[in-house]
Amino acid sequence: MQELKNAIMNRGKAINQDVLLVDSFLNHQVDVELMKHVGEAFAEHFKGRGFTRVVTIESSGIAPASFTALALGVPLVIMKKQTSKIMTGDLLHTTVRSFTKGTSYELTAKHEFLPEKENILLIDDFLASGEAAVGVINLAKQAGCNVGGIGIVIEKAFQTGHAKLTKMGYEVYSLARIKSMSENHIEFL
Ligand code: G4P
Repeated sequence: MQELKNAIMNRGKAINQDVLLVDSFLNHQVDVELMKHVGEAFAEHFKGRGFTRVVTIESSGIAPASFTALALGVPLVIMKKQTSKIMTGDLLHTTVRSFTKGTSYELTAKHEFLPEKENILLIDDFLASGEAAVGVINLAKQAGCNVGGIGIVIEKAFQTGHAKLTKMGYEVYSLARIKSMSENHIEFL
């Protein structure tokens, strides 16, 4: 998606070989017009495939996932990284390890928002090693749902996530695929 690539080139910043700063348009300040176009691009790609829910993980996936759900006309379900006292009922849990952050968190969702046999489109902001996506796949399996596709805004193609998910049999569609980065240099696939 050229508009997204332009935003990455002009407003993003590669801090080093591994981390891209996109807080001016994606995960701190949000360019909602760009996110609307991102949602429309995902909807165009995944339309007609019977998706009944868009699912994302809090917090940075929420903006692109919201516009995707709006464009597809289906509900959005946000997987939580923290459980709270008011989150009760039939809960689904799985542990996700973040390689970028070196931490683990408990991914949680209410079963009532992921009823059995839903066809889920997973949308997330970044794909690195794919652990967050695997966490969503695990929760979907617990719920008896199918993950029918994965849409990623920015894929770091030099990391292992894409190959891992493809090998597991999932389609990964990324709007921008970064081949390599270094300070002040970004190359797309
Ligand atoms: P993985 O799920 O693909 O294995 O990725 P990993 O654990 O390595 O990283 C997950 C977290 O790190 C996500 O944020 C993701 O958005 C963020 N992340 C990964 N690579 C980059 C990067 O190059 N730039 C930026 N800005 N973020 C990156 P999170 O922990 O889910 O937090 P949140 O921002 O969604 O709240």
